[in-house]
Amino acid sequence: MRLENKVALISGGARGMGEVEAKLFAKEGAKVIIGDMLEDKGRKVEAQINEAGGECVFVVLDVSDEDAWQRAVNEAVSRFGKLDILVNNAGIYRAHIVEETTAAEWDQVMNINAKGVFFGTKYAIPAMREAGGGSIVNISSVAGLVGSRQTTAYTASKGAVRLFTKSTAIQYASDGIRANSVHPGTIVTPMTEGFLADSTMRQDRMDRTPLKRLGRPEDVAYGALYLASDEASFVTGSELVIDGGRTAE
Ligand SMILES: NC(=O)c1ccc[n+]([C@@H]2O[C@H](COP(=O)([O-])OP(=O)(O)OC[C@H]3O[C@@H](n4cnc5c(N)ncnc54)[C@H](O)[C@@H]3O)[C@@H](O)[C@H]2O)c1
Repeated sequence: MRLENKVALISGGARGMGEVEAKLFAKEGAKVIIGDMLEDKGRKVEAQINEAGGECVFVVLDVSDEDAWQRAVNEAVSRFGKLDILVNNAGIYRAHIVEETTAAEWDQVMNINAKGVFFGTKYAIPAMREAGGGSIVNISSVAGLVGSRQTTAYTASKGAVRLFTKSTAIQYASDGIRANSVHPGTIVTPMTEGFLADSTMRQDRMDRTPLKRLGRPEDVAYGALYLASDEASFVTGSELVIDGGRTAE
């Protein structure tokens, strides 16, 4: 198994890509802690993983709350003895152009998508150092690589995650802690199913993707699995683009 004896904390693990990552990591031998604000859904994922023979604990986590992160990391260490992997996956999407973006929307998106990644990383690092090293996987977006016609705060937050990841990689390489960012294109999840229900929007996203399909959560989960595992032991500060070729042009 690719994550045998590893302990992984995944934010936003109650649904979407985080849920699929939690299930895949557990199948590959990791003990998994999922943190989310959606308690009912999170508990369901926890039960499904445990019933399937894996080991999973759900914790209530608002990633924009510093104290909640400290509690989540403490829970991982007290339940499973250590922390090896952090997937900063939780995020929200808001689509407004610059003039239509309010200060409140900007702050909310930055607090969750950017500051949440900073807090998670800050509190995971001491636990990973204690464990002799670790892997941090930050879910950015293609919106962290190129500009967007629809989004403002979202793009800024995902760009922040991209370079924050590289600083983390450089600062903590000597502790055996790796940090990499993942840049998905359009993936079908609860986050996107609203706007993908619009057939023009759906077709536009497919037309702009050389592989001519939308992404599945599994497409991203396998990338996160690779970066989390020891197979990627020489990979840090890198950007894994999983977008069907959309940003290659
Ligand atoms: N779906 C896409 O097309 C796409 C593309 C690129 C990047 N992403 C990124 O991938 C990540 C996962 O997205 P998804 O599509 O699975 O979204 P989703 O909305 O289906 O799932 C996101 C999860 O994060 C949780 N979450 C939101 N705010 C939180 C908070 N403050 N604290 C804790 N948990 C919180 C939600 O409750 C939910 O369970 C996000 O960071 C998103 O920006 C998504």
